[in-house]
Amino acid sequence: MNIDKKISTHYTHGNLLTAIEAGLNKQGIKPENASVEDLGPVDEFHIGGRAASVHFLDQLKISPSQNILDIGCGLGGSARFASKTYGAKITGIDLTSEYVDVGQQLCEWVGLSDSIKLQQGSALSLPFGEASFDGAFMMHVGMNIEDKQALFSEVSRVLKSGAKFGIYDIMKCNDDELVYPVPWATTSETSWVAKSEDYRIALEANGFVVAEEHNRHDFAMNFFKKMKAASGAAGGPPPLGLHVLMQQTTAEKVPNMVANLAAGRISPIEMIVIKDP
Ligand SMILES: C[S@@+](CC[C@H](N)C(=O)[O-])C[C@H]1O[C@@H](n2cnc3c(N)ncnc32)[C@H](O)[C@@H]1O
Repeated sequence: MNIDKKISTHYTHGNLLTAIEAGLNKQGIKPENASVEDLGPVDEFHIGGRAASVHFLDQLKISPSQNILDIGCGLGGSARFASKTYGAKITGIDLTSEYVDVGQQLCEWVGLSDSIKLQQGSALSLPFGEASFDGAFMMHVGMNIEDKQALFSEVSRVLKSGAKFGIYDIMKCNDDELVYPVPWATTSETSWVAKSEDYRIALEANGFVVAEEHNRHDFAMNFFKKMKAASGAAGGPPPLGLHVLMQQTTAEKVPNMVANLAAGRISPIEMIVIKDP
């Protein structure tokens, strides 16, 4: 199995649309009446969920006239939030076919299918022409991509000069080995978590200037603390959450990720970079 296939297999659920419908039904929400907010707990597959997207995307200053690329869009939760909030047209690309198909259905449910198009493909071979986009973002994807130079060369190629590109990835903070499995990988075979210095080198080699960098470690620890308290108080997880995506493996992946965070091995980091400013 090649690496792309291994990664998409890691993320594939098999019956995800039905599982999301069941979670909505438990709350008395008909899928066709679901809102972007109703889907937020399950369709934002990164540390901090919707709150993280609000903090991160706001820095990109997205405007309604812009065409924005969401690299590794997953189910398109951030794309729907960005389209609804800023009015922009969003194109999402992701390796995992099931996420793309389910994500497009979620766009239909919330009435955003005219402004969002999700498609299957690789960030390392973007099916778009040069300077096609006014901006781009990538959330919790770089951990699955070994060749950061090739990644940022592709992103640079499809962006216009002056475009903002936002990255919100889990990055390495020291040289310690990570404990696996984690939400993005079952073993180290498909995990290439890199330091922010490595991101900077690869970005700067491809025409980007790093304007902002924010370490979101405290936010992340707080997020997991609150999640644990809410789940304890309710006697279990809510009807929709990231456990719906990760199923029974959640019980190992999330504690391992929190342990890696608490030990200072990793942290979610935002970078806002500009192409040829
Ligand atoms: C942790 S999920 C994050 C999804 C989404 N960005 C979000 O925050 O909800 C990582 C996603 O990256 C995608 N991915 C990994 N490697 C990729 C690649 N080379 N090209 C495109 N997508 C990729 C996976 O399929 C998966 O959907």
